[in-house]
Amino acid sequence: MPSSPLIFSLETSCDETAVALCDGGGRILASEISTQIPEHMPYGGVVPEIASRNHIVRLKPLIAQALQEAGVTLAEVDCFAATSGPGLASSLLIGSTVAKALALACGKPFLAVNHLEGHLLSPFIGHAAGVQPGIALIVSGGHTMLLHLRATGDYKLLGRSRDDAAGEAFDKVGKMLGLPYPGGPEIDKLARRGDRTAYDFPRSMLDSADYAFSFSGLKTSMLYLLPTLGNSIQSRMADLCASFQEAIVDVLVKKSLRAAREFGARSISVSGGVSCNHRLREAFAQRCKKAGHELFLAAPSLTTDNAAMIAFAALHRFQAGHRSALEENVNPNLPLVSA
Ligand code: KG4
Ligand code: ZN
Repeated sequence: MPSSPLIFSLETSCDETAVALCDGGGRILASEISTQIPEHMPYGGVVPEIASRNHIVRLKPLIAQALQEAGVTLAEVDCFAATSGPGLASSLLIGSTVAKALALACGKPFLAVNHLEGHLLSPFIGHAAGVQPGIALIVSGGHTMLLHLRATGDYKLLGRSRDDAAGEAFDKVGKMLGLPYPGGPEIDKLARRGDRTAYDFPRSMLDSADYAFSFSGLKTSMLYLLPTLGNSIQSRMADLCASFQEAIVDVLVKKSLRAAREFGARSISVSGGVSCNHRLREAFAQRCKKAGHELFLAAPSLTTDNAAMIAFAALHRFQAGHRSALEENVNPNLPLVSA
């Protein structure tokens, strides 16, 4: 029997259409995702209008599927949540409007959820101890942020990327290498049989005193290297991917561990699409073990955009007494931490 409150969530901030349900114990009862990657692949990136049109078509059957999987009805839901930002305005509007309509029809509250808080809390889904304070790294296609997670809802931003997000760097370099979109998972796959020391790519801002990141120099470095390799790019592909990936992983791991030392944090959590990366997971596991930090990695299925993380974040907000007005608008630039 699901425990109360029963949370229903929609995530449509970008190109994934997702629906989930979680119960009062933070147990995910259903998590459905309909990916649009094939639709956007010919364009080498997400086309906003295609994304929002697909959300409209896909939501209704996906909602029915999620309710069936969870074995509950709409009438049993205690709160309808949806991502309200950051993301693409036209995509956010679809999920948010559908969640508001359901809330209105069922006479239950609506809750607007920050997509980044969803990612941030996702490593703690399924952990009996719940959300743990510590250093939190979010590495997605749109964001690279290092935070001090003091408690649920109490986050201090330590640093972010000054240019490309880590996932964006993976995708842009993937494009340069002629790999299918999105480049991140493709580079990860090829890197497994490559030598990560083959090329010495720059580790920008590794030794800077702050917690800012920069990945555009790394991308430029690949841009200049490729023409010098002539016809041998294909035969060196695995080494190129492994070395490029290592440069990103190195900076992310070292800066996160430095922050944990400085703030005396026992635990480190890592979330977002790039946290699916095998080498990133391996390097964090090795370094955290050595330094005595407890590591919380989002489950691979919860790293890229999903609605389970939105339901989980909504549950914490709901239990803390938060409710959103139906008039509350979406915000493509919604900050996680107010300046
Ligand atoms: O969190 P997410 O689904 O979307 C945003 O909120 O941005 O992250 C998507 C990003 C893409 O840039 C994708 O290439 C990257 O995560 N990604 C990966 C891997 N899987 C997804 N990057 C590196 N290695 C992976 N295995
Ligand atoms: Zn995301």
